[in-house]
Amino acid sequence: MIRGKKVILRPLEESDLDFCQVLYNDEHIRDMVVGWDFPSSKKNQKIWFESLIKDKRNIRFIVETKKRERLGLTGLWNIDWHNRSSLTAIKLLVTKKTAGKGYGRDAIMVMNAFSFFNVGLHKLWCEILDYNIPSLKAYTERSGWKIEGKLRKHIFKNGSYHNLYFIGCLKEDFLSVPDSNEYIPSSIPEGMRRILRKIDPE
Ligand SMILES: CC(C)(COP(=O)(O)OP(=O)(O)OC[C@H]1O[C@@H](n2cnc3c(N)ncnc32)[C@H](O)[C@@H]1OP(=O)(O)O)[C@@H](O)C(=O)NCCC(=O)NCCS
Repeated sequence: MIRGKKVILRPLEESDLDFCQVLYNDEHIRDMVVGWDFPSSKKNQKIWFESLIKDKRNIRFIVETKKRERLGLTGLWNIDWHNRSSLTAIKLLVTKKTAGKGYGRDAIMVMNAFSFFNVGLHKLWCEILDYNIPSLKAYTERSGWKIEGKLRKHIFKNGSYHNLYFIGCLKEDFLSVPDSNEYIPSSIPEGMRRILRKIDPE
């Protein structure tokens, strides 16, 4: 279990598959994300879940509030162990109760810290549709991510083409975020944290 300030990331359990089905079918999420590779039938979900257990290139976490209410899913997709990079994404059920409360940003910061300090990655990247303002804000304005490129009119959704941003985050980008220190694993001593945050760790 990985703790943030507002959320907890915990491993996906078989008992979460119905919840994942709700996420998969959520219209708002479907509108906001580029694609979704989650299988839709129950049988396929089970096969997918079992394949994840042995898969060293894919990690999924359930995002929960501190009160253990499920909010959504995040993780690492297709980890590239040679280049030490990975695609990441996040899908939270946005309700009146949860939207804009900082859960998304917190989960992104926790994933950053986990990826750089526990998994040992060098870079994370993600694809964002140009109209996905909450996501662009959460990643690029609040969590150290940078826009690295734009593919023009690249994704066809709801009857028209949309621009697609490629965004990325290096370990040093994450460390430049003012409160990144609060996300670095507590096993790293304070002196080392100060050094990490002052120099380019790469
Ligand atoms: C993107 C997502 C993770 C953001 O989660 P969230 O918990 O609502 O966002 P946060 O509360 O952490 O807010 C992050 C920033 O976005 C802003 N924001 C959130 N919702 C917003 C909205 N509807 N319109 C404008 N800004 C918004 C917040 O104000 C905050 O900025 P601030 O700190 O400057 O105030 C969540 O909306 C989501 O999962 N959406 C559906 C799937 C998706 O788009 N995934 C991303 C692509 S992989």
